[in-house]
Amino acid sequence: MSFRCKKFIWAFIAGILFFHGLCDSEKVPHYKFVKEAISAPAISFYDYIVIGGGTSGCSLAATLTQGAKVLVLERGGSPYTRPNKTNIYNFVNTLSDTSPTSFSQQFISTDGVLNARARVLGGGSVLNAGFYTRASTRYIKEAGWNETLVMESYEWVEKKVAFEPPLLQWQSAVKDGLLEVGVLPDNGFTYDHLEGTKVGGTIFDREGHRHTAADLLEYANPRRISVYLHATVQRILFRYRKGRARPQAYGVIFKDAHGFMHRALLSKRGRNEIILSAGALGSPQLLMLSGIGPAYHLHAHGINVVLDLPMVGQGMADNPMNILVIPSPKPVEVSLIQVVGITDFGSYIEAASGLSFGYSWGHTLHGIFELLSNQTGQPTMVPPEATGSAAETINSFFNASLKGGVILEKIMGPLSTGFLELLNTNPNDNPLVTFNYFKNPEDLRRCVQGMETIIGVINSKAFSKYRYPNVPIQALIDLVLQLPLNLRPRHPTAAISLEQYCIDTVLTIWHYHGGCQVDRVVDQNYKVLGVDSLRVVDGSTFYKSPGTNPQATVMMLGRYMGKKILQKRVSRSKREKR
Ligand SMILES: Cc1cc2nc3c(=O)[nH]c(=O)nc-3n(C[C@H](O)[C@H](O)[C@H](O)COP(=O)(O)OP(=O)(O)OC[C@H]3O[C@@H](n4cnc5c(N)ncnc54)[C@H](O)[C@@H]3O)c2cc1C
Ligand SMILES: *[C@@H]1O[C@H](CO)[C@@H](O)[C@H](O)[C@H]1NC(C)=O
Ligand SMILES: *[C@@H]1O[C@H](CO)[C@@H](O)[C@H](O)[C@H]1NC(C)=O
Ligand SMILES: *[C@@H]1O[C@H](CO)[C@@H](O)[C@H](O)[C@H]1NC(C)=O
Ligand SMILES: *[C@@H]1O[C@H](CO)[C@@H](O)[C@H](O)[C@H]1NC(C)=O
Repeated sequence: MSFRCKKFIWAFIAGILFFHGLCDSEKVPHYKFVKEAISAPAISFYDYIVIGGGTSGCSLAATLTQGAKVLVLERGGSPYTRPNKTNIYNFVNTLSDTSPTSFSQQFISTDGVLNARARVLGGGSVLNAGFYTRASTRYIKEAGWNETLVMESYEWVEKKVAFEPPLLQWQSAVKDGLLEVGVLPDNGFTYDHLEGTKVGGTIFDREGHRHTAADLLEYANPRRISVYLHATVQRILFRYRKGRARPQAYGVIFKDAHGFMHRALLSKRGRNEIILSAGALGSPQLLMLSGIGPAYHLHAHGINVVLDLPMVGQGMADNPMNILVIPSPKPVEVSLIQVVGITDFGSYIEAASGLSFGYSWGHTLHGIFELLSNQTGQPTMVPPEATGSAAETINSFFNASLKGGVILEKIMGPLSTGFLELLNTNPNDNPLVTFNYFKNPEDLRRCVQGMETIIGVINSKAFSKYRYPNVPIQALIDLVLQLPLNLRPRHPTAAISLEQYCIDTVLTIWHYHGGCQVDRVVDQNYKVLGVDSLRVVDGSTFYKSPGTNPQATVMMLGRYMGKKILQKRVSRSKREKR
C-alpha cells in the first residue's frame, strides 16, 4: 500500500474529508512535515513563523530552514491531494469553485469586478494562468534590490517550477500578429522583460501539470520545518519589553479545522521573527485585525490599537484587464498565457485559447455573483442582466470548451490606486477592497492603445485563419458587451468608444497588490514600521505589478528575503560570540 493510501485511512479514521483523490496514481511530492493543524500542539515554539504558505511564503520558508526552525501556517489545504484540479484543463473550474474546500475564495471589489484570492498551500501559483516571466532590470533597480542576489533567486525558483511552453498554432498566430502590427523586436523564448514580442515561461509542464510554489518546499530541510494546513491565523500577538516603547511581535493565534485555537510563539533565543506572507488582501487585513492600522478604523471595529499606522490598506491596486473573445472556424489548442507583446506605451498583450468552461458556466457565474452579494449584504449588486437569459447566452457561447480564444491586454502599473477596509473582524471573510480602475487618465489611455493593438492583431494576416472572415470587429465588441462578466453599468457609447469599452468591461488579471507598501507600512528591509520582530514579504509590498505578470518576482522575493534574513542572523550570532 502506498504511503498516501495509508494516509487516506488515517485521515478517514480522523474523520476528515479533505483528502479526496488521495489514492490517484499520479506522482506528486508528499512532505512528511505538512500536517493538518488539528494535530498541532496547543503551544509550540519556532525561530520564524511564516503566516501564509502562498507564492512568497513557500520560497521564504524553504530558504529559512537552511539556518533556523520554521513554522508555516496556511489557512487552505494541500494542492497535492487533488492533482487533477490543478492541471491546465481545469483552470476555469478550479478558479470558479465555490465549495467551502475550494482553493479559490471569490470576492467582488466595490468597483463591481469579480476577483479571486488563493486559499491553498502554494497560494496564487495553484490558481493562476501559469505565465512565468521576470521583472525588468529597471523595476529591480527601482526596488533597490541586490541584482546579483535577485538573479540567483530567480534561478533557484526556475530550477523547480519554470518550463518553456509548447508553442502551438493558435499562440503562434497571436505572436506573428503582434510582430505584424509592430510590437518589435521578436525576442524569442526568454524569461527576461524586454520590449517587443516574446514567448515567456510557464509553470505547466508538457503534460499540462502545474508546478507550484508548494514544490519549492522540496528545498526545505525537513528536520527544521513544520507546515500546518487549515490553520487560519486570527491575530498576531504583541508585548512590550522593559524600557522599550516599541511593541514586539512574539507569537500568533491560529484556529484549526475543528475550531480549536493554538498558539505558536517565537523561541526566546536569537533574532526571531514573524513574517506575514498572507497576500495583498490577507496581509493588510491581518495587520488590522492585530491592531496595526488606521486607528479610527480599528476603533470602529472595536479592535485594540497597538500602533496607529494609517497607510495599512492604502495603495491597493489591480491592473485592469480588457479582452476581446474571438470565435474560431478551426479547432484550437488549449493554451493559457504563452506569448506576450510588451509595447512601448505601457500595455501588455497576452492570449489564451480553448479554455474549458464546463456546461453551465453562466449559471456558475450567476451563482458566484449571488453568493458574494449575499455575503456582503448588498442584495442589489446583482443586476437583472446577470440573471436568467444572460446565463443561457453564456452557456451556449462557452459551452464545454471555447472554440476560439481570448486576446487580452493588461496595463503597466497601474497608476490608479484604492484602499482596503475591514468589513468585519472575521479573518475568514473578505475585506472590502476598492481599486478605482482608470481613475488616472493615463491608465485609460494605455488601455485604449492596448485595445487598438488587439484589434490590429485580430485583423492581421497571420491571425486570419483563426477568425471568421465575415464577423467584423464590431461584432466582437458587441459580444463582450452582452456578456455579464462584471457588475458595472453598460453605457450605449461603449460600442463605439474604446474609452467607454475599457471602463464598462474591465476585468481583473488577478495581479492586485499593495496594502503594506515599502516606506509606508514596511521599511526597505520589509520590517513593519514602528514594531519589532515583524515583517511582510509578499505582493502587498509592491507599488507596481512586476514584469508583465508577477509570480516569478513574488517567488523570487521569498527566496531573496530568506537569504537576506539568514545573512543578518549569522552575522549577528557571530558578533554575539565574539
Ligand atoms: C486566477 C489567477 C491568475 C493569475 N495568473 C498569473 C499568471 O499567469 N502569471 C503570474 O505571474 N501571475 C498570475 N497571477 C498572480 C499571482 O499568482 C499572484 O500575484 C501571486 O500568487 C501572489 O502571491 P502572494 O504570495 O502575494 O499571495 P498568495 O499566493 O495569495 O499567498 C497568500 C497565502 O496566505 C494564505 N493566508 C491568507 N490569510 C491567511 C490567514 N489569516 N492565516 C493563514 N493563511 C492565510 C492564503 O491562503 C494564501 O495561500 C494570477 C493570479 C490569479 C488568482
Ligand atoms: C485524473 O485525470 C486522469 C487523466 O485525465 C483520470 O484518468 C483520472 O480518473 C482523474 N482522477 C480524478 C480523481 O478525477
Ligand atoms: C549582493 O548579493 C551577492 C550574492 O549573494 C553578494 O555576494 C554581494 O555581497 C551582495 N552585495 C551587496 C552590496 O550586499
Ligand atoms: C441569496 O439571498 C437570496 C434572498 O435572501 C436567496 O433567495 C438566495 O438563495 C441566496 N443565494 C445564495 C447563493 O446564498
Ligand atoms: C452544450 O453542449 C452539449 C453537447 O455538446 C449539449 O448537450 C448541451 O445541450 C449544450 N448546452 C447548452 C446550454 O447549449
